[in-house]
Amino acid sequence: MCSIIGYTGRFGAASVLIGSLKRMEYRGYDSVGMATMESSKILVRKDVGKVIEVEKSLQLDAMPGQIGIGHTRWATHGSINKINAHPHMDCNNNIVVVHNGIIENYKQLKVDLQNNGHVFKSETDSEVIAHLIECHYSKYNDVKQAVIETCKNLKGSYAFVVIFKSGLVAGARQDEPLIIGLGKDGNFISSDVLGFIEYTDQSIFLDNQDIVILNENNVSIYDFNGNPVSRDVTQVAWELGDIDKGKYAHYTHKEIHEQQYSIEKAFGIQTESINKFIDVILKSKNIFITGSGTSYHCAMLAKYLLNKLSDIRTEIVMSSEFEYMSRLLDENSVLIAISQSGETADVLHAAKIAKQNHAKILSIINIPTSSLARFSDHYLTINCGPEIGVAATKSFTGQLAIFYSIVNKLSSTRIEIKFSDFSDIINEVLEQESHIEKIAEDIKKTKDIYILGKSLHYPIGLEGSLKIKELAYIHAEGIAAGEIKHGPLALIENNTVVIVLNPSDDTYTDTLNSVYEMKSRGATIIGISNQTNEIYDYFIKLPTINKLLYPIIEIIPLQILSYYLALKNNANPDYPRNLAKSVTVR
Ligand code: G6P
Repeated sequence: MCSIIGYTGRFGAASVLIGSLKRMEYRGYDSVGMATMESSKILVRKDVGKVIEVEKSLQLDAMPGQIGIGHTRWATHGSINKINAHPHMDCNNNIVVVHNGIIENYKQLKVDLQNNGHVFKSETDSEVIAHLIECHYSKYNDVKQAVIETCKNLKGSYAFVVIFKSGLVAGARQDEPLIIGLGKDGNFISSDVLGFIEYTDQSIFLDNQDIVILNENNVSIYDFNGNPVSRDVTQVAWELGDIDKGKYAHYTHKEIHEQQYSIEKAFGIQTESINKFIDVILKSKNIFITGSGTSYHCAMLAKYLLNKLSDIRTEIVMSSEFEYMSRLLDENSVLIAISQSGETADVLHAAKIAKQNHAKILSIINIPTSSLARFSDHYLTINCGPEIGVAATKSFTGQLAIFYSIVNKLSSTRIEIKFSDFSDIINEVLEQESHIEKIAEDIKKTKDIYILGKSLHYPIGLEGSLKIKELAYIHAEGIAAGEIKHGPLALIENNTVVIVLNPSDDTYTDTLNSVYEMKSRGATIIGISNQTNEIYDYFIKLPTINKLLYPIIEIIPLQILSYYLALKNNANPDYPRNLAKSVTVR
């Protein structure tokens, strides 16, 4: 999952593209590269690291030209080094390419090209695209035909952007996003609207197997057979201001704090849209829920809630496992797919399988223009604004809020939710921040953290442990409290850190019993609850609220703890090593 962008317009491309790459870096941050063209001369600069780290060494001031492409990489094929960083060129430096995705047949293509005299510089799969275009362009002397023939050769998933010496910029997409930005002062082609939103909100979302050719004034779109096609222009709505860090040092910190308002916003979703979901769910015999990472934890909580409060039976399956669990899918089934980005390849693959089996697709997303939203029969938006921090925070609580609204419609026991109270409730939780920071200081050197919870709290334990792993690189495990006696107790020694999610609900006493078992073996206990207990070595207080709603607020102390554990261990919480926010490869 890399970010790719192309620009052709009236401004200096390098200064435009560097801002674009900064905004899209959530998609990968192993290396950065850029190519610009002036007077038919292509100049390439690249380096290893994040944009802010390499910006100086790229010497952008000395990159002239109003046509350019840029890339941030999340390495798949070939190690993280300068040579493997994009852009990649053909043998004669006439063609330069950036690519996002995986070319599955690159090995064979590379051998064939090498046998025909092509010389490769990198270990990447992507470089074959530059050499293939070179071959076809020299044969047809036509940009469109060169791109079409190249796409015919490629197997796998890809979006690429290429500059031709003639001054044209072209792109193509197969199972990876590619969006055109139509600006007053030039046109863009990008992995995400964030790449150009500073310049224009007029976008064209290319369909799968579209090819585009653009210059400063014109955009032409074709299908893979070369026929012209027309695509709608969509106005995208996000405010640029939302992409700033504001007063915060990190996006992750800002996004944790934004939950004071974003949860309330997600609860405020229109009844009409929810009713469409409810209709489909009630008409379906088999109900599957899927997601990856954090979104899967939301699926888990949804199952607990539906089981507790309704007669609806659901099957939850991680998206990466969905293919192997899909035998029961048919026209009487529905797949509810949860994804912040709506671009996660595993989730999209699950949705495709479901559609092939004639099931309905409902999705819960944050980006209404995403591939998943467009692929679904109906979708609900969590509406929490752009989430840039790689670890999901506000999108998770937004997803939960939507599910609570859905469950409320499906169950006979209504959960009393006063939306307007939520901002005060979350504020009370956020007020614990400096206390949580001190706890982080005390436990920052621990090697393992266990998070216990029963019932609705178990998925939150899993999500909290994912946050600690992602942000602080500390091994953490969420455990269903009753399971500790079936194995995990063997891991408990003096000062092992155990966090317990234990608000005063029907799980309170049972969970406490498990905590006693941990404590008597020397564990240090951090209690998260509305009710303190002498067994806790540290206590993080939650406000007292409706018992069923605790999952939404108890994740927040865990997010804050993970954030400070990251800082105290010198990790950058916005850019966890080896990860990317939007995983568009399977
Ligand atoms: C990546 C991110 C996770 C995220 C998961 C699913 O792995 O690092 O934080 O939960 O993708 O993302 P989605 O956009 O589908 O919710």
